[in-house]
Amino acid sequence: MQQSALIAPSILAANFAALGQEVDDVLRSGADWVHFDVMDNHYVPNLSFGPLVCQALRNHGISAPIDVHLMVKPVDRLIGEFAQAGATMISVHPETTDHLDRTLQLIIDSGCRPGLALNPSTPLHYLDYVLDKIGLILLMSVNPGFGGQSFIPGTLNKIKTVRHIIDDSGLDIRLQVDGGVKKDNIRAIYAAGADTFVAGSAIFSNASDHNPNKYDSIIQELRTEIALS
Ligand code: DX5
Ligand code: ZN
Repeated sequence: MQQSALIAPSILAANFAALGQEVDDVLRSGADWVHFDVMDNHYVPNLSFGPLVCQALRNHGISAPIDVHLMVKPVDRLIGEFAQAGATMISVHPETTDHLDRTLQLIIDSGCRPGLALNPSTPLHYLDYVLDKIGLILLMSVNPGFGGQSFIPGTLNKIKTVRHIIDDSGLDIRLQVDGGVKKDNIRAIYAAGADTFVAGSAIFSNASDHNPNKYDSIIQELRTEIALS
């Protein structure tokens, strides 16, 4: 059963010089989660931010779920640090650990909700023996490492397949899509079966504007598109 739609802005595209205010503004505009793209310049060819920034957002007063997407290898060591820094969900790529079940159990034992992140060419068989351990399947609709890329159209069929897998399992698992999500494609992505949407550049495109309500319209437009699906 497709769950209620949630919007998770990726702060990778936000104005880092005013990150606390940016997150306040986008949440006040109606976003649901804070998507936290962690990149290590090893697993992906880019470097973003670590647990200290997650902790800083919590210290700033952010209480919304922080959805940490670990694009790091090896991944195990950072799980505890992000859990202590205030992460709510922690998603990992199966290619970043030699023992996926143990890594997912580490996330559970840290008090966070595990997610499995699958790149565009990563096959779905990684789901076979871990569905009972995860609360989120993150389907990458771009190759990981950068915001502002174009949505890979073939992801729509992958979303439909994963939707059936989740529904057949009867488990409480969200289907998240990350990469190139925009006003003009979110309706099709929702129709394919996704219920949780990561968007960075589509949301933070006018981050230089100092109007605290600057994200109202894009969040509303994304929700309107979903409702029209
Ligand atoms: C890729 C990142 C991006 C980001 C979203 O590794 O994970 O997908 O979250 O970026 P946009 O919405 O700008 O494609
Ligand atoms: Zn991400």
